[in-house]
Amino acid sequence: MKKWYAVIGDPIAQSMSPDMHETWFRDNGISASYIPIHVKADELEIAVTSLKRLGCNGWNVTVPHKTAIIPYIDKLDETARRMNAVNTVKVLEDGTLYGMNTDGQGFVRSLQEEYELGETIGDVLVIGAGGAASGISFALEEAGIGPITFTNRTFEKALQISLGFSSGSALSFKDAELAISKFGLIVQTTSVGMNFAQSGIPLNPSGITEGTIVADIIYNPLETEFLRLSRESGGKILNGVGMFVHQGALSFKLWTGVTPDTRKMIQSISTKLGGN
Ligand code: ATR
Repeated sequence: MKKWYAVIGDPIAQSMSPDMHETWFRDNGISASYIPIHVKADELEIAVTSLKRLGCNGWNVTVPHKTAIIPYIDKLDETARRMNAVNTVKVLEDGTLYGMNTDGQGFVRSLQEEYELGETIGDVLVIGAGGAASGISFALEEAGIGPITFTNRTFEKALQISLGFSSGSALSFKDAELAISKFGLIVQTTSVGMNFAQSGIPLNPSGITEGTIVADIIYNPLETEFLRLSRESGGKILNGVGMFVHQGALSFKLWTGVTPDTRKMIQSISTKLGGN
């Protein structure tokens, strides 16, 4: 039987995952489909039951279900357990639902694809203290990148998240701005600057040292104001397209065993978004 996959979320119409996975299926000669399914928060349980009954082979999970789906998952891998969030489900042969999370590793791969990451990268500043910040930080730690300092609008949350990391520490936005020149990698994980709806910057990156790598997980717009200021201050910048593509590529590999072409996909999505 033809295999099929899905992405569930609310909203879902804007998701670029269906196009991306359908392209990869086609390019790799795999007979399968991938569809977006709009699932509201109070419909999650029935959605999971239905996907299983209808023979779905696996699905991606996006906002707002990444944590809420956990009670309906049979087995979690270590990353999903540690993050308390699932973005990829694989339905095993015996019907077991296996939950994984490829977001953090997706970020690290996109970083590694773009820039040489030696030990010279030094201190890392993560802006934000939500799900994205923790996933990325676990993956950075796993890759041996750090120590990590967290900064967040609500300082208590930065402090809280930092306690989960052996080398973690926390700063207020103001203190992070003052210390910004010491960081070799800065990762912006908040929603500030997304979709042009929330304009502005979480903190001012103008004091960075030239050559600092500055990443923003937002991909629409391709260059947030935070990235623009960082670039103008001598930073090497990275937008969120790579993370999006790589988290998808890791899901694709878990489902099919095939590693898809990420560079071509990043190029194509960037062109599409740049034309907006
Ligand atoms: P995600 O899973 O995408 O990380 P989240 O868990 O809701 O989403 O976390 C959102 C992050 O964006 C938080 O760090 C939040 O800061 P607070 O903890 O202070 O709420 C941050 N954030 C959202 N809007 C912000 C804004 N206007 N200015 C600064 N930080 C903002």
